[in-house]
Amino acid sequence: MTPARVTIDIVTIFPGFFTGPFEHGILRRAQQTGLVKVAIHDLRQFTADRHRTVDDRPFGGEEGMVLKPEPLFRAVEHIQQQGRPRGQVILLSAQGKLFRQPLAAEFAKEESLVLLCGRYEGVDERVSKHLADEELSIGDFVLSGGELAAAVVVDAVVRLLPGALGNEASAVRESFAPFAHPREPREPKIGLLDCPHYTRPAVFREMAVPEALVSGDHQRIAQWRRREALKKTWRNRPDLLAQVPLDEEQQQWLAEIQKEEEP
Ligand SMILES: C[S@@+](CC[C@H](N)C(=O)[O-])C[C@H]1O[C@@H](n2cnc3c(N)ncnc32)[C@H](O)[C@@H]1O
Repeated sequence: MTPARVTIDIVTIFPGFFTGPFEHGILRRAQQTGLVKVAIHDLRQFTADRHRTVDDRPFGGEEGMVLKPEPLFRAVEHIQQQGRPRGQVILLSAQGKLFRQPLAAEFAKEESLVLLCGRYEGVDERVSKHLADEELSIGDFVLSGGELAAAVVVDAVVRLLPGALGNEASAVRESFAPFAHPREPREPKIGLLDCPHYTRPAVFREMAVPEALVSGDHQRIAQWRRREALKKTWRNRPDLLAQVPLDEEQQQWLAEIQKEEEP
């Protein structure tokens, strides 16, 4: 088999955690077809003591335990000695920068990613400062460990690898699809939400599919989709609208939508 297009190494104290999430759908297929290789590393294998200790009490006398730096440094050094290209090393952390679609698209261009999963009170800060290239959060909430966050990053990145989606969908039309803003083309911005989707039956419990979608008029359907995407973004994520340059038609729709939705 040809070498995988991208290798993702995950370092965790719970290697068994990942047996489920990567064995379905797009992720499973991407591994089977050699687009991606996911390697899970047990942090305890990189400890040097009899008890395979990965954590210790925090300096300063707070509650809880902190993941020690030595096993994490050793794990990354071990991974980097495998002859893989030096890719991004990412520490999953509630204190990190927000992981968003433009970054997922950037990661999809890398040949190698290393994801470090924290636990307990977190990870010795020297890992963030001197080992990781990025400290990333998947949202403004606190998880019990970095494993779920790592799985989220893997999923979001792998589905953007060319060939991963097959015929199932196109990432171009999806929510948050990054675009180059004319004023800052080098820093991709995050796009609007996707439009709503419907399937058969056309009427379900007296709830009918919007008329435009069953009209057969492709131009009308495209227009409906663009307007509904705008409406959904305005309702659910008005923050996204602030950075998207709307064309004249969209500006007019937005004014109409705001009027329609006035209390
Ligand atoms: C209980 S959390 C530590 C929370 C930390 N004391 C704080 O308040 O920021 C344990 C681990 O879960 C992971 N984690 C928690 N929330 C996360 C988030 N929003 N994004 C990414 N990783 C997260 C990190 O790896 C973290 O080290």
